[in-house]
Parts: sequence; C-alpha cells; structure tokens
Amino acid sequence: MSNWTIVVLPGDGIGKVVLAEAIRVLDAVGFNAEYVLGDIGWEFWRSEGNALPQRTLDLISEHKVALFGAITSKPKVDAQKELSPELVKQNLIYSSPIVGLRQYFGLDICLRPCRSYKGNPLNFIRRGRGEIIEEPAIDVAIFRQNTEGLYGGVEWRDPPDDVYAAFFSHPAFRKNFGNVPKEELAISSRIFTRKATQRILGAAFEYARKRNYASVTLCEKPNVIRETSGMMYEMAKKLQVETYPEIELWNTNIDAQMMWLTKNPEDYGVIVAGNMFGDIVSDGFAGLIGGLGFASSAQFNPDTGVAVFEPTHGSAPKYADFQTPIVNPIAMIESSCMMLEHLGEEEKATHIRQAIARVIAAGKVRTYDMSKLAGSEDVLQQGASSTSEMTDAIISSLP
Ligand code: NAI
Ligand code: MG
Repeated sequence: MSNWTIVVLPGDGIGKVVLAEAIRVLDAVGFNAEYVLGDIGWEFWRSEGNALPQRTLDLISEHKVALFGAITSKPKVDAQKELSPELVKQNLIYSSPIVGLRQYFGLDICLRPCRSYKGNPLNFIRRGRGEIIEEPAIDVAIFRQNTEGLYGGVEWRDPPDDVYAAFFSHPAFRKNFGNVPKEELAISSRIFTRKATQRILGAAFEYARKRNYASVTLCEKPNVIRETSGMMYEMAKKLQVETYPEIELWNTNIDAQMMWLTKNPEDYGVIVAGNMFGDIVSDGFAGLIGGLGFASSAQFNPDTGVAVFEPTHGSAPKYADFQTPIVNPIAMIESSCMMLEHLGEEEKATHIRQAIARVIAAGKVRTYDMSKLAGSEDVLQQGASSTSEMTDAIISSLP
C-alpha cells in the first residue's frame, strides 16, 4: 500500500525527461507513492483541441498533489496550423494549460525558493574590498501572488465607450491622456483584491516564522503605484505588527531591489510581491543561484490543499529529442523536494538536498549548463555530464 498518490504531469519536451529523473530520486530516497499519469500539453492540444483535458483536472481534484514537468506553448496561428485536421473547423482557441491550472484550482500562492549550493560554478560572485572575490550564500524564498495584478487579463486596445468613460472620469487620466484618441489607447489594468493580498502576505509571513527567517521584504512600488502596492504595504504592516512582531518587515521598490540583487542578495530572507513584480524578482534571484537548471517552484491553494510542483523552466524543445538527454534535472528534483516538504516528508527532502549539495561540492559531475557550454549534442564529448549521470550521482550520494 502506498502512502501517497501523486499525479504526474510530464507535459512536453524536456518536461518528460526531468520528471522521470525526479521520480528515480524519489524512489531512491524511499518515498512510498503511487504515481498516476495526467495528460497535459501540446500533444493533447493537437489531438483533442485541449491542452488540459477535464480528466486531468479531475485527477488532480481527486489526489490534490501534482508533479509537473513543463509544457510547450506556441502562438495562436501556429496552434491552429498544428491542430489535427478533423478539429480545424471547430473554432478552438489555444490557451495555456498552466494558466488553466491556476484558474481552475485557484492556485494563488506561488513559492519560488532560491538557495545557492556551495561549489556551483554558476553562483553569483562579486568583487569585494581590494582583490577579494566574494560568493554570497543566498537563501531567499519568493512568494508571488499568482492570479491577479497585471496578469489578471483585464485589458483593452481601443477600449469600449463605457470603459473609456470610466477612465475619463479620473482626473489623472484627463490630465495625462485626455486628448489621446480612443483608438490609440492600450490599457492593461492592475487589480489587487484584499482577500488574495492577505493570503499571499499570510503565506509569506507564516513561512518566515516556520523557517526562522528574520525578515519579510515587500517588493512593490507603494510610493508610485499607490492604490495596489500601497494597499499591499498597509496590509503587510498591519499583519506584521499584529501577528508577526518577531519578524521584521522591509519595504523595497522593485527597481531598487533589482539593483540590490547584485549588491547584497545574502541580506534577504522571504520576499513577497504581486504577480508581475514577483515574477521579475524571482527570475532575478534565480539567476544568482544557477538559472533555469536550478529554479524550482510550487503553486498552491491553501484552502483546498491542491498543490502543483514544477521547475521554472519550460520544455526546451531544442534539447527534447537528444538521444542522450543533457539538461540539468536539479530544478525538477528540487521541485519534488518542495513536494516532500508539503507532504510533511521533510527528512526525505533534506536527504535529497544533502545529496545534491555533495555532488555539487565535489564538482565531478556537472551538466552542460554548469560546465558553461552551449547546449548541443556533443557537450558530452566536451566533458559535460548527461541528465541521467547527474541523477545517478545524486542517488549515490543519498545518506
Ligand atoms: P525554456 O525554459 O524551455 O528554455 C530556455 C533555455 O534555457 C533552453 O534553451 C536552455 O538553454 C535553458 N534550459 C531550460 N531548462 C534547462 C535545464 N533543465 N537545464 C539546462 N538548461 C535549461 O524556455 P523557452 O525556450 O523560452 O521556451 C520553450 C517552450 O517552453 C515554449 O513553448 C514555452 O512556451 C514553454 N515554457 C513553458 C514553461 C512551463 O511549462 N512552465 C515555462 C517557460 C516556457
Ligand atoms: Mg518568469
């Protein structure tokens, strides 16, 4: 009898490759689970006109926890061209299954931890005083609101009359845009709700408390974007004072934060932001710890317990069909560690991370990205390790 049932969503391209590697590691660490396969991705768009079939949503509803590889998305025109002939006339419109998952399950909390491993040649280094080269140890957890803000989809080009009238009623609009012809306007709105803002702030502070982070940094722009960022800051301040007095609340502007990324990234603990700024700041930090081969993430809904764990990278179609896969499986393996933590299997997650740390510190097994080679099939001849060699090394370093 397995303790857990996990829905696996390999998706497309290297998603299939890295997910299989993560399961090898989960087996080796003694995670006792049954895996059920969920259909998702381009293949199902082509054959069924739906990249996220209802049966997959039902599986996730039933089992709650999913490990996801990556999918391929293409522009609308290409999507139409690749549709199987009998579906072409049905007026189907391609939509991203990732966005679909978020909306269907209300996965409004996105967590992207960025922790550097000692000895990773891709770690950020900077010049210190004199000739000193410093390699700051980074341990940051970014909480990104995942469903609202600029990605909420409320936008117009040449807005309809009622929308235009509503904007025109605002003095700043009249002053700055009042004499621009309506057809020349493009408007994307940034909507924050109190409920979702409270949830992302709460998740960030709670994580900081549980893991003993000293600070939570709100990374927005409240001095300029007064209503959305401003509301988020006020709510963060109230939450900190009333519920988390032992944790410091820092307030940085997104633009300044991007500069501080390279000045003092080691000073930050938990970072929390709206959808777009969270997306930006998490990619920034990921770059400091090794980039796409290392960046893991989770999306979840604390009310229902539905959680999806996935690497940040996409399907990297260029590398999908290599006879011996070369991509770095660590981002996917790290994502499965996040899943283990979510399920209360912390010890197993720690064991896997210790094994990754040993392999990286030893420096003998390095995928092409860690060897700083351009990705091509001959990187293995040039000394890079393959995907499965990296996984094997991690498995043999498990305690
Ligand atoms: P990508 O993340 O797939 O690849 C970009 C580049 O990053 C690759 O060419 C490779 O050089 C490097 N890379 C990615 N993963 C790596 C790994 N594990 N190890 C070593 N190097 C790695 O992004 P791209 O090329 O912009 O998009 C490719 C496809 O993936 C598109 O169809 C896009 O829509 C989709 N995509 C899907 C995502 C998801 O499923 N969450 C996220 C981002 C893109
Ligand atoms: Mg991004």
